[in-house]
Amino acid sequence: MNHKFDLNGLLEEIYQHLLPKVKVESIHPHDPVEVDNLPQPWRLLGRGNYAGVFYHPEYVDIVVKIYAPGRQGFEEEVEVYSRLGEHPAFSQCYYAKPNFLVLKRLPGTTLYDCIQRGMGIPKRVIEDVDEALEYAVSRGLYPHDIHARNVMMYEGRGYVVDISDFLHQETCSKWENFKKAYYWLYRPLLCPLGLRVPYFLLDIIRKGYRAFSSFKKSCHRQWGMLLSFKSQKHFKRFKR
Ligand SMILES: Nc1ncnc2c1ncn2[C@@H]1O[C@H](COP(=O)(O)OP(=O)(O)O)[C@@H](O)[C@H]1O
Ligand SMILES: [Mg+2]
Repeated sequence: MNHKFDLNGLLEEIYQHLLPKVKVESIHPHDPVEVDNLPQPWRLLGRGNYAGVFYHPEYVDIVVKIYAPGRQGFEEEVEVYSRLGEHPAFSQCYYAKPNFLVLKRLPGTTLYDCIQRGMGIPKRVIEDVDEALEYAVSRGLYPHDIHARNVMMYEGRGYVVDISDFLHQETCSKWENFKKAYYWLYRPLLCPLGLRVPYFLLDIIRKGYRAFSSFKKSCHRQWGMLLSFKSQKHFKRFKR
């Protein structure tokens, strides 16, 4: 692989300074990880529910994603990047060793932060993400867990920042639901009024959405069990 940066120099920084010091901890699986003891001059770029993402000021186009101990998904993420290859809306993996990855840095701001800051999100961003997800499907992947924290915007274009769950085959409607909220609520109402949605409200929406989804899933499961129980009874009667 041909890199435009000094990978060996960066790896030395990672192994000698970053990894021995930084603490990435997952306190609650549904909340972002906690980060502590970040050595100078490393900077924290973002936190997901699995990992912390960092950069070094001498390598501003590269990020290092470190998984919290006990959080699964590292191998899957490496596999997804190898299937994706190069695409402008996705990052690329330059190096991976158990529990950390060296990735291309994507530019911009997550849609979550854009909504909180009242930054306008053009339709093109949504269309770029749709196209990127179609591309992922064409590479044998299953877009999953695409929500406002995993999509970024830069100069009016959209980028998908987190692909770690793209091997999960079960359907995920987060992106479709986000788009409904975008077209029905954000574009006609929030955006023209320049309304900002504060983090505490975004957090309530995030938690409410998760509670509603798991309630819906459990209803589906119970309904399915009830139907299969009924059809078994019917089958037994038929056999007699
Ligand atoms: N390649 C990247 N370029 C720029 N920012 C990134 C990149 N990867 C992650 N981030 C930032 O870090 C945050 C957490 O990363 P993410 O991959 O979503 O972690 P997790 O798998 O734990 O959800 C993202 O929301 C984003 O702000
Ligand atoms: Mg994420």
